Amino acid sequence: MRQKLVIGNWKLHGSLAANAALLDGIKAAPAPARARLAVCAPFPYLAQCQAVLSGTTIGWGAQDVSAETRGAFTGEVAAPMLAEFGCAYVLVGHSERRSYHGETDAIVAAKTLRALESGLTPVVCVGETLAQREAGETEAVVGRQLAAVLDALSIEQLGRIVLAYEPVWAIGTGKTATSEQAQAVHAYLRKQVVAHGEGFADVAARLQILYGGSVKPDNAAELFSMSDIDGGLIGGASLKAEDFLAIGNA
Ligand code: 13P
Repeated sequence: MRQKLVIGNWKLHGSLAANAALLDGIKAAPAPARARLAVCAPFPYLAQCQAVLSGTTIGWGAQDVSAETRGAFTGEVAAPMLAEFGCAYVLVGHSERRSYHGETDAIVAAKTLRALESGLTPVVCVGETLAQREAGETEAVVGRQLAAVLDALSIEQLGRIVLAYEPVWAIGTGKTATSEQAQAVHAYLRKQVVAHGEGFADVAARLQILYGGSVKPDNAAELFSMSDIDGGLIGGASLKAEDFLAIGNA
């Protein structure tokens, strides 16, 4: 049985005061019985997350990591730095990074490796655009994005990642994939991991695959009831403690 995981992706939102209210609200509520919660904050707020969430069951992490470990890379933040701030997770290859920052599959694979080397759990995001879905290319696109990561990792490393399926057309649009649409892609991703090679069936069975894209309190339970959906990656609804907790309890 895979543990459910619900991660909030704050994106470019927050302030010390707003985060304090949000984190206190999440922390004050009873921990969801069947899901682990985590928040992925902008870099400057990781110390705040660490201060507020240490000793709780709530994890925290970053939204990106450098593909480099050190050196002359102005503006980059390396995985060992995230580890120093107690991060458990880091998002890798979010569609907003892929589309606005030109992150290729190769960069996403390198970032995944850097995260693993520092003991972080990379949450590797894949997803198709609306045009790609309408052209019948969903499986080809997410399959290619996944393959780049599978090819770079050992089976042991693969056992330490989380995958997230986020259809680009569902992000921030209020258009959720139906639970059947999401389940179909999740099942396909798991099948691709099994097919990657001998001995991959076990790691595929244990792999947590989260769904992201307009998850809200009123659609979370239905999505999370699907057999291959192991939780959610939540954008907008993770900025309100009440909504985020309701999703965690779904
Ligand atoms: P929304 O929940 O705002 O659609 O964002 C999803 C997302 O991109 C999470 O990473």
